[in-house]
Amino acid sequence: MSGTIAELGEGVGGFQVGDRVVGFLPMADDGAAAEYVVAPAEILAPAPTSVPLVDAAALPTVGLTAWQALFDHAKLAAGQRVLINGAGGAVGGYAVQLAKNAGAYVIATAGPHSADRAKAAGADEIIDHTTTTAVTSATAPVDVALNLAPIEPAQLAALLDLVRADGVLVNTTVWMPAPSDEQRGVRGIDLFVRSDAAQLAQLVTLIDSGRLRVDVDQRVPLAELPAVHAQAAAGALHGKAVIVAPTA
Ligand SMILES: NC(=O)c1ccc[n+]([C@@H]2O[C@H](COP(=O)([O-])OP(=O)(O)OC[C@H]3O[C@@H](n4cnc5c(N)ncnc54)[C@H](OP(=O)(O)O)[C@@H]3O)[C@@H](O)[C@H]2O)c1
Repeated sequence: MSGTIAELGEGVGGFQVGDRVVGFLPMADDGAAAEYVVAPAEILAPAPTSVPLVDAAALPTVGLTAWQALFDHAKLAAGQRVLINGAGGAVGGYAVQLAKNAGAYVIATAGPHSADRAKAAGADEIIDHTTTTAVTSATAPVDVALNLAPIEPAQLAALLDLVRADGVLVNTTVWMPAPSDEQRGVRGIDLFVRSDAAQLAQLVTLIDSGRLRVDVDQRVPLAELPAVHAQAAAGALHGKAVIVAPTA
């Protein structure tokens, strides 16, 4: 979520009423589909100043997911090759940009709806997963494979085979566990994104310095939120939608 601080809790320092902030709310609490949210101060970071506050809501969840996948879990380094499966989606847009910023060579899979987005994010190679076997041995070896796509377990296992010995497979579609290959030392990691104000602040700095773009596909009034869920359920939601609450 993004918003303006309306009130501070007792003893909260570091912020003032009127500050514009972004944050990834704790998953177990109420969400951000509301005019007001209660947020723990320690998850908040100052909002970027170079994008509209409404659009800044497109950053925290998916930006942190991409950051934690690439840097906390995969320890991506300059010169490495990374395969991002499902790169045209909301997390993928940030993952491609962050991997390029880090000096990696980025191979992206994206269908016709999202190839342009993956290309604009800076992917070095794009594989159309709807017309080719998305992952082929020509792609291998990669140091890191990041899966963001709703694929079958067998397809996830095939991604593992493309990772070099001692490399990493990070998976965000955690309804299926990431496989590992112990013989080759390839680790499969299930990612569960977490709030991290310091990482969020780093993402905001990248945005305000022009090194990270925030892409918003749709801005939808809060009253129309059910239509967005219906679109998602029908598989017709491409890119990031932000929900706009009425201002008080
Ligand atoms: N575990 C966590 O903490 C965590 C955090 C954030 C997100 N997630 C999950 O991570 C996934 C990605 O999130 P997101 O927001 O980026 O979702 P998204 O915007 O829906 O992106 C997923 C992308 O996967 C692509 N795709 C679909 N079928 C594919 C296939 N067979 N092969 C390759 N690509 C395919 C789609 O693009 P095309 O147009 O190319 O088909 C879509 O753009 C979601 O499942 C989300 O729930 C998990």
